[in-house]
Amino acid sequence: MSISFDDSTRVFTLSTRSTTYQMQADPYGFLLHLYYGARTDGYMAYLVTYADRSGMCGCPYDVHDRTYSLDVLPQEFPFQGAGDMRSPLLSVRDASGAFGCDLRYVGYEIRPGKYGLPGLPAVYSDDEADGAETLVVRLRDARLGLMVELLYGVMPELDVITRAARIKNEGAGRITIDRAQSACLDFVHGEFDVISFYGRHAMERMPDRHPVGHGSFSVGSRRGMSSNQYSPVLVLCDHTATESTGRAWGMNFVYSGGFEAQVTGEQFDQTRFQMGLSDDRFSYPLEPGEELVAPEVIMTYSDAGIERVSQNFHRCIRTRVCRGMWRDTPRPVLINSWEAFYFDFTGESLVKLAEKASKLGIEMLVMDDGWFSTRRDDLRALGDWTVNEGKLGGTLAELVERVNALGVKFGLWVEPEMVSEDSELYREHPDWVLAVPGKGPVLGRDQLVLDLSRPEVRENLFAQLCAVFDQANIEYVKWDYNRSIVDTYSRASNDQGKVLYDYMLGLYDLLDRLVARYPKILFEGCSAGGGRFDAGMLYYMPQIWTSDNTDAINRLTIQYGTSFGFPASAMGAHVSACPNEINGRDVPISTRGIAAMQGGAFGYELDLLELPERACEHIREQVRRYHEIESIVREGLFFRLSSPKQDPVCAWEYVTEDGLRAVVSAVRLEVEGYGVASYVVPRGLTPGARYRELDSGVVYPADALMDMGFPLPVTLEANAAVMYRFERMDD
Ligand code: GLA
Repeated sequence: MSISFDDSTRVFTLSTRSTTYQMQADPYGFLLHLYYGARTDGYMAYLVTYADRSGMCGCPYDVHDRTYSLDVLPQEFPFQGAGDMRSPLLSVRDASGAFGCDLRYVGYEIRPGKYGLPGLPAVYSDDEADGAETLVVRLRDARLGLMVELLYGVMPELDVITRAARIKNEGAGRITIDRAQSACLDFVHGEFDVISFYGRHAMERMPDRHPVGHGSFSVGSRRGMSSNQYSPVLVLCDHTATESTGRAWGMNFVYSGGFEAQVTGEQFDQTRFQMGLSDDRFSYPLEPGEELVAPEVIMTYSDAGIERVSQNFHRCIRTRVCRGMWRDTPRPVLINSWEAFYFDFTGESLVKLAEKASKLGIEMLVMDDGWFSTRRDDLRALGDWTVNEGKLGGTLAELVERVNALGVKFGLWVEPEMVSEDSELYREHPDWVLAVPGKGPVLGRDQLVLDLSRPEVRENLFAQLCAVFDQANIEYVKWDYNRSIVDTYSRASNDQGKVLYDYMLGLYDLLDRLVARYPKILFEGCSAGGGRFDAGMLYYMPQIWTSDNTDAINRLTIQYGTSFGFPASAMGAHVSACPNEINGRDVPISTRGIAAMQGGAFGYELDLLELPERACEHIREQVRRYHEIESIVREGLFFRLSSPKQDPVCAWEYVTEDGLRAVVSAVRLEVEGYGVASYVVPRGLTPGARYRELDSGVVYPADALMDMGFPLPVTLEANAAVMYRFERMDD
């Protein structure tokens, strides 16, 4: 049993393999948060203190006791209206416009298996294998007839607890939800740091760590997508925590639209950590009988440092968010036409690229942007998903057959959520875009966003896409999304405060239908590179293009930052040409290969026909090497051995869960004059065992490796990389 309820104290205890989470419905019916930490027995209500805090903190009318204030007490689901003046999860208005509610505990239910969410992505369970359980805690506001069901999913083996909330109007009048966040952790004391991930196009998920002071630290997105600018992942840890020591808590939002994640140091030195939907342009009316679901947050706790939080996220997302046959299948090594040709290709040049690719062991050709309608640049034709047979020199089926005949799979690029003004679709349905009547819509890459909250728009896209996918043997689809949502007006909506949320429901509905109809297609997410890299998208597609920046050195930081919340199996990473098109840097092809092999969705993004034979030889060798390590990368435990921002060497490691095999890679970022040896210290090996490095044959004792490490070649040059494969010797 992962969930228990004690009738006498009204305490709920949620247990995973190594964590315990506890809350209590107190005598007044308020739900207090007691504990989220190392696994333990017992009853932790003693952590909560009650005192007369000078009467400046509000007290609920029926409690009438100055030592009791929700402004101070740790809470599970803080809401506006009961005296907690901190940042709430929920804020509502009634039909008269009056703010506030008063939610009290009315009951609970414990169910086997993990709950699902209607229309939204969520962690799922394989009930028999996982031992997952669901707790539903019901809170009710009697005046409004507002029912809130707090949903907790306990995944004991994954050391993960998920949270979401169903907010239902069971009353007689309209209720408007102005804020609906999903998860909150209140800490009664502690000295913490917060780790967040900021960035921009082509520089996503830069890690940023700073101490939590008094006041709020908040990141989020108001862009209608999870964004290139901030990642919907936040880690809170002890001020002294390292990768492998100290306590750390993580939240990871299973949603692809706007979000807000916040850590606040409060008046009595408590800390509030919360995550959920952004309030921006959000105001969601519920008529009697209607409901709103606050999307899921995955939470995890580690008392063995920050890397355990990441490893827990990895396992959970890889095995219980990602779905479909590609979840556990090696991904084909691909060559993408974008950085090879941009818009300038023909059927013939693609076949030539595939021919060369096949000789090097590359398994799939992806025809990126430019294959449809009049699309010859990024000014036109989005929305018209008809094959440009003139450009391809024949039908799509003919092209795919020629490529397949070379032993190469075929995939293509789409950006279905968008429309160009210069398109048949826009000329026919100008009202299908998100645009405020009478105001020129803000453009992004010269394109507009289709109103996916409307079923007829989704129907049109579904039909157009199926017509393309059914034409030929399409085995892969790159689903792109290249701008943010500025003008939030749907001609079909009765309330514009619903549109951003309903857009996401519409997108998820469309994706659900497509992945169900094409279970064999490998879908890869993309959004101006890594602008929608989130667990929501990973529910529909197991991999995402990590960034448009393919410079191997910049990528080290991008991938390092991405690894805090997401598994390697989700990271699309390609070797591209040098000098790099974005920053002009030259990096040896061996380093580009080793950096790209950090991702479990490996490939190439350059014109193979232009490469000298020596480089092609190298690629053939790289592909072979990748196949040797790919299952360790895709499924192994990941360790950030050093930081590309702070250390002269960036090193990382994958170890199979049974400890049998490990891969350690390192890139030297800085060199000094003569002779200083850099050491890499692996982790996660089997104590007491010996490991053989496969290329050199050298045998190492695991304990010494994990203590003093091993030296990199002293002569390793700047931007050069090395990879070591270790195998445990079971003698
Ligand atoms: C975005 C993607 C690129 C490429 C182009 C095509 O920028 O991130 O990988 O597909 O669109 O227009």
